[in-house]
Amino acid sequence: MTNPLPQLGPVDHIGIAVADLEAGKRLYGEVFGLALVFEEEVASERVRVAAFDGGGIRLELLASTDPDGPIGRFLAKRGEGIHHVCYRVEDVAATLAHLKAQGLRTLDEVPRPGAGGCQVAFIHPKSAGGVLVEISQPPAEGGHA
Ligand code: CO
Repeated sequence: MTNPLPQLGPVDHIGIAVADLEAGKRLYGEVFGLALVFEEEVASERVRVAAFDGGGIRLELLASTDPDGPIGRFLAKRGEGIHHVCYRVEDVAATLAHLKAQGLRTLDEVPRPGAGGCQVAFIHPKSAGGVLVEISQPPAEGGHA
């Protein structure tokens, strides 16, 4: 077998847009009782991320650092809520090429850096049943596994 189809999954994290990161951290950390895994700013996405351990799947609270950034625009249009579902993949470039070959519309032509040293790409919600889909290849070692 020379060219197996890339498989998506397991789900790595769910991205949740929040208007107020401190309020989101209080809800997930103190009210829901989940553990904060990491917090970092991803300048390229104009977002600050607070990630909680949902038991094998992370819940990433996404707060905008720029009203014209992707989360800023999402919040203005849709308000707070689930923003994307991210699947872990072994080879993000190969998976992206496969999905494009299947006719899916993507937001990225090539993978780009995401949080935690991952390489990521996004599939347009219009091609994925109304869900913005992220595919993410973890760094060879380390990262937020
Ligand atoms: Co994500």
